[in-house]
Amino acid sequence: MTADELRSMYLGFFKEKGHSVISGASLIPENDPTVLFTTAGMHPLVPYLLGETHPAGTRLCDCQKCIRTGDIDSVGDSTHLTFFEMLGNWSLGDYFKEEAITWSYEFLTSQQYLGFDAGKLFISVFEGNETVPMDEESIGIWQKLGIPREHIVALPMEDNWWGPAGETGPCGPDTEMFIDTGKTACGPDCRPGCSCGKFFEIWNDVFMQYRKTAEGTYEPLSQQNVDTGMGVERTIAMLQGKPSVFGTELFTPITNAISDGCGRHMDQDDATGHAFRVVADHIRSSVFVLGDPRGVVPSNLGQGYVLRRLIRRAVRYALQLGLETGFSKNIAETIVDTYKHAYPELETNRDRILGELIAEEKRFEKTLNRGTLELDKVLENMLKHNQTMVSGRVAFRLFDTYGFPLEFTEEICSERGLSVDRKGFDKAFAKHRELSKKGADKAFKGGLQDHSEATTRLHSATHLLHKALRMVLGDHVEQKGSNITADRLRFDFSHPARMTDEEKQRVEDIVNETIQKDLPVSMQVMTVGEARTNGAMALFSDKYDEQVKVYTIGDFSMEVCGGPHVERTGELGRFRIKKEGSSSAGVRRIRAVLETP
Ligand code: ALA
Repeated sequence: MTADELRSMYLGFFKEKGHSVISGASLIPENDPTVLFTTAGMHPLVPYLLGETHPAGTRLCDCQKCIRTGDIDSVGDSTHLTFFEMLGNWSLGDYFKEEAITWSYEFLTSQQYLGFDAGKLFISVFEGNETVPMDEESIGIWQKLGIPREHIVALPMEDNWWGPAGETGPCGPDTEMFIDTGKTACGPDCRPGCSCGKFFEIWNDVFMQYRKTAEGTYEPLSQQNVDTGMGVERTIAMLQGKPSVFGTELFTPITNAISDGCGRHMDQDDATGHAFRVVADHIRSSVFVLGDPRGVVPSNLGQGYVLRRLIRRAVRYALQLGLETGFSKNIAETIVDTYKHAYPELETNRDRILGELIAEEKRFEKTLNRGTLELDKVLENMLKHNQTMVSGRVAFRLFDTYGFPLEFTEEICSERGLSVDRKGFDKAFAKHRELSKKGADKAFKGGLQDHSEATTRLHSATHLLHKALRMVLGDHVEQKGSNITADRLRFDFSHPARMTDEEKQRVEDIVNETIQKDLPVSMQVMTVGEARTNGAMALFSDKYDEQVKVYTIGDFSMEVCGGPHVERTGELGRFRIKKEGSSSAGVRRIRAVLETP
């Protein structure tokens, strides 16, 4: 059975049982700030589960696009996916356990439908706690249908309770359905819920009869609901006898496209297989996020950040496979073609999907190359000194200066049997935050707010800005003031008129071109007189024979300055002018930032 057949058979089955087939919602929740993505079919239905009337009635079913990135580190094995399709049926205060379980059993085992061997079906139920008793009722219903008691296990809240994590909302105990794959048990305690792969979960029936309150207590809801979720990818893998979700028709065109790009095969060896699966999964998720009607683009915030992380993680594994920049184009085209009949929005948004993917791939490739080189240096040094843990400070520097994500540092380290001081990283991050905040709170008089890496980078950018302003506006431009925090630079300079858009653009371009040239920054100590003769920019109020530091950036700029500065302009990221305005008569003020390239 194919995914197409499964979707239509499921919806047909529940239609026959009196359900209205509703459309799946966007991957980007419309009115819910508590989640970044739709993570389950119930999500768009929360108001109705809490008691509002749904226009389509009290029995609903659909197929919902979902994204879950909580397990992103597990992707690469045979079961974990960040994007998946979930088939679901709902009772909004209508039927409850008896009907839900009976229909699940019928759909799974009847020859007319999925026809799974009932002997291979295993079940888990909620074992109970102080508030909610053990779900004896569900056990009884399963037994009545013929499931032997030894195929039913009772598990704690972390396994058999569906509810909002930490938030308020509808929740309740659930009963999950597993297929025994026939694999040898990993040990005497192996049972449904074990992660060894013997028991493959395909469906979950939740009995939503509680609401979690802000105080963390559970109140009975005014109505008893059912919320179910069947994973399409997992179910067809089991129906087709595939040991992995990557073995079905939903993935083979994708993994073939990867093969075409790198000349390798997924089953070449474990590491290759792992990288294939990560690339296939992450590019597929990215295509669905970019192609969503409410699609987002890569950024440093919210959904855009998750998307950026998915694409960047895919790039890293693609590099391992030897795929070249632009690799995502073919893979994404294949994904659009595989899914466009079921999700026409992918075809509509094909250009956006391809354009954004490739642009982000390129942006990241640069960052990654630099960060990996830097990390290699760090690791080499550690090996020399027999150290096994990367300090939080160093991990933070990689992140802050090179835009190299912590999880990449961790992954690369763990591949080599080394670890990262995550607590130390968090501490360095918190300190950085605090410094930035202090900078914002405190009206310090000028100069540098601190000597953090971010402030240092903006300081070097200020030198580039100063020179670029003189190139674009003229030699009358003189520094009148400078104030730099970890978040932004502010530069006051003499100039009689508002800058035109074109002038601002030219200044930005010059600065960014200089950053891209990755020029070295060097420092010499000399007298003010020598500095002047050499053509350094300075506020020449200092005494002529006083010793000063002169910072030179490639052949671009030379300025008397106390430092500190970066070592190379390539560390700066992307320079952007946020605002240009008047500071006082004849003095203009620019605010600018550096963004992750
Ligand atoms: N909401 C339940 C789940 O996603 C059905 O597993």
